[in-house]
Order: sequence, then C-alpha cells, then structure tokens
Amino acid sequence: MINYSYIFQGTAFTSKSVNEITIYKDYLFLVDEDGFIQELVSPKDERYSLIVDECAGRENFYRLKEGQYFLPGFVDLHIHAPQWAQNGTALDLPLYDWLHTYTFPLEAKFANADFAKEVYEDLVSTLLANGTTTALYYATIHKESSYLLAEICANLGQRGLVGKVVADDPEQNPDYYRDEDAKTALLDTEEFILAVNELNETTKQGVYPVVTPRFIPSCSDDVLKGLGELAAKYNTHVQSHCSESDWEHQYVKERFGNNDAYSLHEFGLLGEKSVMAHCNHLEEEDVDLFVKTGTAIGHCPLSNAYFANGVLPLARFLSKGVEIGLGTDISAGASPSLYDNAKQAVVSSRMLEDGVDTSLLAEQRGVKNSRITINEAFYLATAGGGESLSLPVGRIEKGYAWDIQIVDTKVVGNRLPIFDLNEELYDIFQKIMYLVKPENIKEVWVQGEKVHSR
Ligand code: GUN
Ligand code: FE
Repeated sequence: MINYSYIFQGTAFTSKSVNEITIYKDYLFLVDEDGFIQELVSPKDERYSLIVDECAGRENFYRLKEGQYFLPGFVDLHIHAPQWAQNGTALDLPLYDWLHTYTFPLEAKFANADFAKEVYEDLVSTLLANGTTTALYYATIHKESSYLLAEICANLGQRGLVGKVVADDPEQNPDYYRDEDAKTALLDTEEFILAVNELNETTKQGVYPVVTPRFIPSCSDDVLKGLGELAAKYNTHVQSHCSESDWEHQYVKERFGNNDAYSLHEFGLLGEKSVMAHCNHLEEEDVDLFVKTGTAIGHCPLSNAYFANGVLPLARFLSKGVEIGLGTDISAGASPSLYDNAKQAVVSSRMLEDGVDTSLLAEQRGVKNSRITINEAFYLATAGGGESLSLPVGRIEKGYAWDIQIVDTKVVGNRLPIFDLNEELYDIFQKIMYLVKPENIKEVWVQGEKVHSR
C-alpha cells in the first residue's frame, strides 16, 4: 500500500534544463501529506495499473480531462504589491520622475490598513488566477501593512516572500514617505522579520520575510550596513533593484566609486538568498560576483521596455551560469501574468539580436546569440525562479512542492487551435505558453492545496 495524500493522473510539462522541456505523458503524480511530490509513476511502470485500479474513483484520485495539462506554478521574482492600485497607468515618465510623481504618493497611502487590505487581497487572488504560486513582493515602508500582505498570502494559500521596504535617505525620499531614520528602519525591519517568521510557522506553504532596501539611492550607508547584518543574523532572503537604469547605475558609481553589484556586496546584501531586480547594466565582474555569491537576477522584460533604457543580455548571463527568474515588476510592467512576461522575454531577446539594444555594454560586446526560445522563457518563469529563491518549487519532480496550474486548452472563449488529435505534445506546450489566458487556468494548487479554481 502506498502512502499518499493525492494522486494526480495526466500529462505534465516541466523544465529539464535551461533550454529543454521534459514531457511526462499520462503519468501518475503521488503527493504526500506535506504537499511534496513523493513519486512520479510512468505508464510503463508495472505498478501503474495496480495503483489506478486500486485508487480510481476515490476522492483523492484526480484525473485530468482531455485537453488539460499540468504546468508548474509560476514564480514571480519581483513585484511591488502596492503599485497594483496604479497598474495600467502612469507609464509616461522616466524612473526618477515616475517615482516622485506617481509612485511615492501612492505607496504613502498604505499607512491605511483598510486600503492596503483591499488592494493586497485583490492582487494575491489575481496572481493565483494567473498561475503564480510563489511571489517575491515589495510592500511599502509601513511595517503593519507589510505584515498584512504576508498574512493575506498565508490566508489565500500563496507562497509569499514579503519585504517591508526600507528608504531612509532624506535627500532622495520625500518627507511624507520615508523611514524616520536608519535606526527606526532597522528596528522596524527586525520586528517585521520576527513577526513574519512566527506567521510562517502557522502555514503549510511558507511565508517569508525579506530584507528590502528599495535601491541604493533610497538608502543611507548606515541602513544598508544594518540591513546586511539583519539578513545574516536571521538568514533571510534579500531583494533590491540593481543597475536598472542609466540614472541609477551612474548614481551609485558616483556615490561609491563602484557599481551597484559590488556596493551591495560590500554591505553584505548579495548571497544565495538574494534576488536583484533588473541588472541590465551588470559588467563582467559584476556577473562573476553574482555567480560566486549565488545571487539571482529577477528579469523584468516588460518593465525594462518602459523604464530601463536597455535590454538585459539574458542569453549571455544564462551562459555564464547566473541564476535568473522572471518578474512582473508591477506596475512598471503592467501585466500580472508571467505568461505575458515570458513572451516579452523572448521578444526582447530578439530585439537585442537585431541590434536595437541601447545599453552601452551590449553594444561594446556585440549581441550575437542573444535570442532565447520559449523553452528558456518557461524555465525562467518556473525552475529558474525556484532556484533563485533556493526553494524546492518550479518543477514537477520528486521532492518538489506540488505547486501547479491545470491548463485547459478547450475553454469556450479561448480554445487553443489544436485540431489534430495526435498533435505533438511539444507543439501543445508552445501553444499553451503563447496563447493561454486566465480563463484557461482551471485550477491552481500550492503545496498540495487547491487555492484557485474556475
Ligand atoms: N527603483 C526603485 N524603486 C522602483 C520601483 O518601484 N520600480 C522600478 N521599476 N524601479 C525602482
Ligand atoms: Fe521594481
């Protein structure tokens, strides 16, 4: 007798490597009571029919209908939860002006817990409906409403990694929206870490606190140093923005005489559990430092098209072995869907190959072989995200969390163009990646629990 909590039967797509897909056709997936995949059973395995005969018809036996497929849940490596309230607007200004004109005034409103609750609940359920099972969030500078976001993830069943944003420099942040001083920012962050760690104990899927200096320009030296120490003391995840725009890149060079990456490293902010958003302007030594420290890049292709004035040399960074995943960067990227961002990652990489890139570095080094395929984009949205966070998510493999989306290709209103009963499964995979809408995402599961259905 096999000990399991659920058995799922059907066809699954998962990354084998950065550019290869594994297709498990008509497999059984056995999930244990903690929500981890305990075993994959091939139809060729002699136990297959025994298990099906014994278990079919039971409540915990779950067989996909024709036209339905399992994909890993997506991992959003960079998203500003409060900015959901302005999503789809305010895309007309460059980064610095955008922050001061639209974004800081909006984020300041999250001092109000009722407003925060309304926005955050709507965002977390929207992400789940789009297949995002894990998200690395920026909240705001307010520790109470940042905690509320972690609580909402806990309640709605999403694996949330949440940062109380730190921004204490009075020169760079408006008086109405900044931490009072470095000392207060560090005390608030420590309190936040302790509270979210306690909350984590009550969840199955995990919610985690994240040390979150907004970006170097927002932060004093004292606060950056203190945050590095807190991350080490509590072994937390760390996130920030790194070398996003020309403006930011230049600002850090002038202030420290070094690039963003090196400066963040000096403050103890790089490491296995660090994810840096954007990284468009990393130089060769910065990339080496990322590889050496295990720091990951949160690639935000839609946002980069609006704010970064550059295209990430993704293929080159992947070939150097940097861990990379995908982020929506809401609201600088205006789609909550990682399907949209995966497609944009492919499109942007093709622009780079054709020489449209405006980043100095790519021009100097040439941009040949920069195209990625949908396989790599899928990897970024799933396994790459999991590896970036050092969590067992993003693959449908033994030992990984049962974090999945069930995609239905036959939904009225968005039926995918599949006409041949014997169509290659790899072609179906590509159609899914290019054509799926939230209507096609029938169910979403996190850590063996159903968290969304339609
Ligand atoms: N740099 C600092 N803050 C932000 C932000 O909110 N969005 C983006 N895209 N870049 C930033
Ligand atoms: Fe961002």
